[in-house]
Amino acid sequence: EADVAGDLVEVLFTEEQILARLAEMAKAIEADYEGEDLLVVGVLRGAVMVMADLSRALDRHLEMDWMAVSSYGSGTKSSGVVRILKDLDTDISGRHVLIVDEIVDTGLTLSWLVSNLASRHPASVRIATLLRKPEAVKVDLDVAYVGWDIPNEFVVGYGLDYNERYRNLRCIGTLAPHVYA
Ligand code: PRP
Ligand code: MG
Repeated sequence: EADVAGDLVEVLFTEEQILARLAEMAKAIEADYEGEDLLVVGVLRGAVMVMADLSRALDRHLEMDWMAVSSYGSGTKSSGVVRILKDLDTDISGRHVLIVDEIVDTGLTLSWLVSNLASRHPASVRIATLLRKPEAVKVDLDVAYVGWDIPNEFVVGYGLDYNERYRNLRCIGTLAPHVYA
């Protein structure tokens, strides 16, 4: 079995950089939700690492819940049609909801999710994402908290997978060509 990190051709963000950026995002979130109740919703499975580190960077009370969603459709995802595999356990009516994901690619997943959650009459719904690919976004999506905008390259690590692998990398990087071969 090859060295996992050795499959990267380039490290884009180290663990230290990721934690530092999440701490900055947490400060902004603390300020914006001061005095308010907060429910943080992680999008399984990619958001697990961001949820763990962002929630621990938040120096305030919060609740955590999870959703799992899947894109329908032929071949590639990004049809924009989404189904719920695991719904919230929480009634979000009247509550401030912060959806946490690790990447906004086309934006179709979170666009659908925001609409779905908004129909449940929360006090507010916002998005926090560690990464966003502006060149790949297909919908007008309001993202309140973004770690970094990145080029439209395939990235893995820190929750991001290639064929379900590499999610457990502490850093985020681009895969070496031999991995695809
Ligand atoms: C990935 C990623 C985001 C979503 C972004 O999840 O974690 O949730 O795709 O893509 P989009 O902006 O084009 O909709 P995926 O559905 O691959 O499942 P995973 O989180 O289990 O890896
Ligand atoms: Mg995901």
